Amino acid sequence: MTNLTHIRFKKPEEGYAPSDDSWLLANALEKENFQGKKCLDMGCGSGIQTAALLLGGAEHVTCVDINSSAIFVTQKMVQTYFPHAKVEYVEGNLFEHVKGKFDVMVFNPPYVPSDEMKWMEVDGGKEGREVIDKFMSQFPKHLKENGSCFLLVSSLNGIDDVQFRLQKRHLKSKVVAQLKLSFEELYILKITPE
Ligand SMILES: C[S@@+](CC[C@H](N)C(=O)[O-])C[C@H]1O[C@@H](n2cnc3c(N)ncnc32)[C@H](O)[C@@H]1O
Repeated sequence: MTNLTHIRFKKPEEGYAPSDDSWLLANALEKENFQGKKCLDMGCGSGIQTAALLLGGAEHVTCVDINSSAIFVTQKMVQTYFPHAKVEYVEGNLFEHVKGKFDVMVFNPPYVPSDEMKWMEVDGGKEGREVIDKFMSQFPKHLKENGSCFLLVSSLNGIDDVQFRLQKRHLKSKVVAQLKLSFEELYILKITPE
């Protein structure tokens, strides 16, 4: 397996099939080297980011999702395309069942502004920030000293405020990829300790 385009990703039940945002993040990850790294794919969905991490040489990946079908679909994808990879699966709400620290974390969150949290794969609540803000308050304690976190954020979420809040937590962030769509712009933030 040499390339993400060779993999047939499946949509989990009531879950997310790879879309523009997924590919923006996965293609940004393809430019990185994860040799020897302990990685975490938050909200793994179809498993596309897990595949990008493994193709980049990740030594170990922990896949987390609140949707059991996403865990199942990701597990099948790994068994099919990366049968020898070291991958662990955790069903849960963000870090509730996650232990330990990671060199690399990736998250394509549900970020669409919504009045209610009905569709867990897309609904982001007020300004699309409900899950993003919880993630931002929880991930730093699971990030190793020289670790990095790749987070997708939309212009609908207020990227300046996201970066400001990260800065207050002594984290620096830079945009490593972006994509303009008709009603929003997507950004991949690479976040590292200051
Ligand atoms: C936009 S989809 C991204 C899926 C996949 N990573 C991708 O890039 O295509 C967001 C994913 O986050 C999961 N999710 C939503 N809220 C979550 C939470 N609180 N904890 C863990 N996973 C969550 C959803 O089930 C969904 O699989």
